[in-house]
Formats: sequence, C-alpha cells, structure tokens
Amino acid sequence: MAILPILEIPDPVLKTVSTPVDAVDDDLRAFISDMFDTMYAAPGIGLAAIQVGVPKQVLVIDLQEDEDEEGNAVRCPRVFINPEILEESEEESVYNEGCLSVPEQYADVVRPAAVRARWLDEKGESHDEQLEGLLATCLQHEMDHLEGILFVDHLSRLKRDMLLKKLTKLRRAG
Ligand code: NI
Repeated sequence: MAILPILEIPDPVLKTVSTPVDAVDDDLRAFISDMFDTMYAAPGIGLAAIQVGVPKQVLVIDLQEDEDEEGNAVRCPRVFINPEILEESEEESVYNEGCLSVPEQYADVVRPAAVRARWLDEKGESHDEQLEGLLATCLQHEMDHLEGILFVDHLSRLKRDMLLKKLTKLRRAG
C-alpha cells in the first residue's frame, strides 16, 4: 500500500497531455493499486495518473454510492486505461464538481449527460459501454485531466478567479 502525493493547482505538471499505455502489465497494476490507495485516503471518487505526476492515460474511479448495513461505503473500483469517448448525448447535466487537485473548492459544470466510451480495464480487456449519471460526469472530468484540463477551466474567468482566490485564502489559513 502506498499513498502518493497529489499535485495541486497551479502545478504546471497538471497541464501535461498524457500518453496512451502500451502494456497492461504487473507494473501498471501495482501503480493502479497505489492510485486506489491514494484516492480512498484523500478521500475522493476519481483520480487520474497525472494527478500523481504520471503522464499516462490511466484513471481510477469509485463512486462509493452504496452503503452496507453499517453505513460504510461499498467499494466498486473501476479502472479506465486509454479511455475514448465515442459518442456523447445532446442532453446535458449539471454537477457540482470538485477535484483532489483543487482542494475543497466546488463549482457547477455542464457536460453531456451520457457518453459511450471505450477503454481497457486492468486485465487489458476492452470495454465499450454507454455510461450515464455520476459515472458519466466523473469519467469526463477524469478524462479532462488526461488533456491537462481541470474542472475550473470550464468556468467563466470571473468564477474561476473567485474560486482560486478562496483556495489561496484557505491555504494561507492553512
Ligand atoms: Ni479532478
């Protein structure tokens, strides 16, 4: 188990465009396991490899939406390697997004409500599925990271500046 340091805005590494993975092997699986440890510890529901400084097209997501009888989140880990969006719905949805690289800041972001995506899982098997709801939103947010885009880049300059000012204040209060 290893918890990796998460890069935060304005670290320029977060603007890196990630490259495809060419081999889904044990080294990659060990890294993915560290990504999950890091995401759960944060805690968060999604993490892109570039957020821990690795410019590869690897995402981990666990929405942790369901609870067991004791009220603990039930884990449903999902791995997306080399993900591609094949189709997106015209219908849009708005979600109040946050990001582990933009700590404790949230803002509404509009995205297609559903997407058809293709990706490899941690066994190297290919998937082609229609996704909707929070999973579709989260996948699009994480895929943005692979292009060096953060959710704040979807906001108006005014809203983005306000949010970043709040973050600066929060850090000073530290
Ligand atoms: Ni993020």
